[in-house]
Amino acid sequence: MPALALVGLQWGDEGKGKIIDILAAQADLVVRFQGGNNAGHTIKYENKKFVLHQIPSGIFHPQCKVLLGNGMVVDLISLAEEIEQLKQNKINLQKRIFISNTAHLIHPIHKIRDQISEFKLGKNAIGTTGKGISPAYSDKVNRKGIRLGDLADTENFKNIFYQKIEPLYPELEPYCKKANITLPNLNEVCEELLQVYQKLEEMFCDSLELIHKFKNEGKKILLEGAQGSLLDVDHGSYPFVTSSNTSAGMASIGSGLGPTDIKKVFGIFKAYTTRVGSGPFPTELNNQEGEYLQKHGEEFGATTGRIRRCGWLDLCLLKRSINLNGVSQLGIMKLDVLDKIDKIKVCISYKTKEGKIINNPPSINKDWDKLEPQYESFAGWQSSIVEAKTMNDLPRNCQNYLNFLQKELNLPIVLISTSPKRENCIITKNIF
Ligand code: IMP
Repeated sequence: MPALALVGLQWGDEGKGKIIDILAAQADLVVRFQGGNNAGHTIKYENKKFVLHQIPSGIFHPQCKVLLGNGMVVDLISLAEEIEQLKQNKINLQKRIFISNTAHLIHPIHKIRDQISEFKLGKNAIGTTGKGISPAYSDKVNRKGIRLGDLADTENFKNIFYQKIEPLYPELEPYCKKANITLPNLNEVCEELLQVYQKLEEMFCDSLELIHKFKNEGKKILLEGAQGSLLDVDHGSYPFVTSSNTSAGMASIGSGLGPTDIKKVFGIFKAYTTRVGSGPFPTELNNQEGEYLQKHGEEFGATTGRIRRCGWLDLCLLKRSINLNGVSQLGIMKLDVLDKIDKIKVCISYKTKEGKIINNPPSINKDWDKLEPQYESFAGWQSSIVEAKTMNDLPRNCQNYLNFLQKELNLPIVLISTSPKRENCIITKNIF
């Protein structure tokens, strides 16, 4: 049975939570393959809003099991809180959550290192979520990380924990003083982590064995990307990126499936562009139009509450993401946010500072700021599309806009999201 990967094609916050939630109705297993609790997937379920940071968004479908894959960095303490929140809302979690033994641990000292690193960068800060993602992945690549399975043997874990973390304290202390951060008591941190591990113990597993069992039984597997392709550590707007590979290639590495097991890649993008944190953004609108998108799109970070920067849709960046991910079909999100805009713009090329027109963004991201976006304008549709059930129900101008995008991107748009609710979605083809 094919596995399907779902990825965001912009700087994250494309609405992956809603789409995973819809697709999970057909899935047997949903797997997160990278990132940690820097993600915030918002889902409206039974008129209640849930923000999931680490638990895959398939959890609201009782037939579906979820796996936190080996490519993730997991904050166990915040995971336990997330699980508790779901339990309190009477979501049945019995034997439905699995956590890879080989995913890496994020502990409180990672968070402090993240904050100190940002403090040291001052005005050049990346604008991280402060969740310790970069230090946790750095430790992993440096072969200094702690894997979740290491917590199974208490004495061994204590040894590793002290051996790896105690020597960092003398270096951290002076910065903590300057940045007004209190370093926690190591004993307490170690005990808390062990307690949380024991509470969740039955969820830990050999994820490679588990995922291949599902695959061999012909079960449907959905691979859930977090963040977006433009935040990919290799292909994104480096250094203003997250510390993992967010693109579809990682769906194999971070879940344990082989590359040929992933038959389809579903790429989703917003009808405009947003970004949280620092870094280049060629189509950013620092004006009333940007404020309009921010307000009507409710563009606040789900993890940090920060206001998201907003701008027009950028086809040059989108085409790059489509190539990078090997996207087979597209979904457009938040199209309704454009309902009342009279002139909708789409960036189709850039003018360089030398006056040359280019279609591909330069490979050196620092040059992105000097680009002048060249726009194609479309007459808006000036009516609500929320109730549309088929493509034909959409106003003519809206159809024109979508047809233009499909032609330019050379891919079918098979899903159109017209409100945050699960039911407000036009799906024209089976996505799985
Ligand atoms: P980090 O992942 O916390 O290290 O943050 C690195 C960059 O990625 C910052 O610009 C963050 O704002 C951005 N980022 C991380 N996670 C997300 C996300 O889920 N959505 C949007 N931006 C994110």
